[in-house]
Amino acid sequence: MLEVLDQIEREALSALDKVQDEESLQHWKVVHLGRSSPLMTTFDRLGGLPKEERPAIGRRANEVKRVLETSCNTREESLRQVFLLRTLRSEKLDVTLPGRWLTQGRLHPTTQTLRQIYRIFGDMGFQVYRSREVEIDEYNFELLNIPAHHPARDMWDTFHTTTAGVALRPHTSPGQIHVMREYAPEPIRVILPGMCYRYEQVSARKETQFNQVEGLAVGNEITMGDLKGTLSDFARRMFDHNVRIRFRASHFPFTEPSAEMDIECFLCGGVGCRVCQGSGWLEILGCGMVHPTVLRNGGYDPRKSMGFAFGLGPERITMLRHHIEDIRYFWANDMRFLEQF
Ligand code: DAH
Repeated sequence: MLEVLDQIEREALSALDKVQDEESLQHWKVVHLGRSSPLMTTFDRLGGLPKEERPAIGRRANEVKRVLETSCNTREESLRQVFLLRTLRSEKLDVTLPGRWLTQGRLHPTTQTLRQIYRIFGDMGFQVYRSREVEIDEYNFELLNIPAHHPARDMWDTFHTTTAGVALRPHTSPGQIHVMREYAPEPIRVILPGMCYRYEQVSARKETQFNQVEGLAVGNEITMGDLKGTLSDFARRMFDHNVRIRFRASHFPFTEPSAEMDIECFLCGGVGCRVCQGSGWLEILGCGMVHPTVLRNGGYDPRKSMGFAFGLGPERITMLRHHIEDIRYFWANDMRFLEQF
């Protein structure tokens, strides 16, 4: 038996000598140290040997195991060294080569505009209020003074969900009701930014998703003068300190009176061009004094409180500022477009 162990050891060591790579080393381990290797099965057979032979053979078997394991580890280490040396020789590192440019991430142009809008209104004491993108009909329309089946609904081509009365918001105005109901009868000054969705024929000017920033101020002595002052100041800081501004009467169901604010076309200086469609003016936003019905729906007493509201489109503003001709660029994920900002 002891001679058998000697032989096992000899054969294993000579086989190990021939091992030249990691793969054959793994194979060697299985053959010579694995569960069914001659050495390991010797351990299994120990119990069947005569009692007086067992200690000597057991000791010798353990010794062979130790020798094989140590030799295997040494071999493994020397293989690693050889491999390392070989790679060091074959691969060269030229530390004088110029480094690679790291591509720098950028903020989406709309995000840049949004942040500027937050800053301007933040300076005037407006807080950012977020409200949901999926709304029930009541908030999208009814509480904003737009009853079911009213023709005014044609202004918003809405994406409906499979649940009756639940739709993607077509504008940020429903957020007005959420803020008012949360804070009434306290005064509020908030902007409500966020994504809106409309069932539109996509074109250079219209997308099915876009951002809006809604504004709302409610208090005891808020006038149309405050509305005009706030929005004129906004336009001057957003576009140009000398920009000419005009308010045009308009109609929205949730404001009375309603207006639209235009700035003088900065491409043609008011003479009339393709961008301003010959009018010399660019429409920037819709606004007005909050309709008494809307105030009441928000929890305010319209005899005591007044307010103004407005809604603007950050993509449109971005397009005007950067002379972007097609709104579809905003969501096309084209790096060539995005990298310009
Ligand atoms: N919600 C309007 C729209 O999507 C924009 C708007 C106009 C909002 C006037 C207002 C407002 O708060 O007073 O077309």
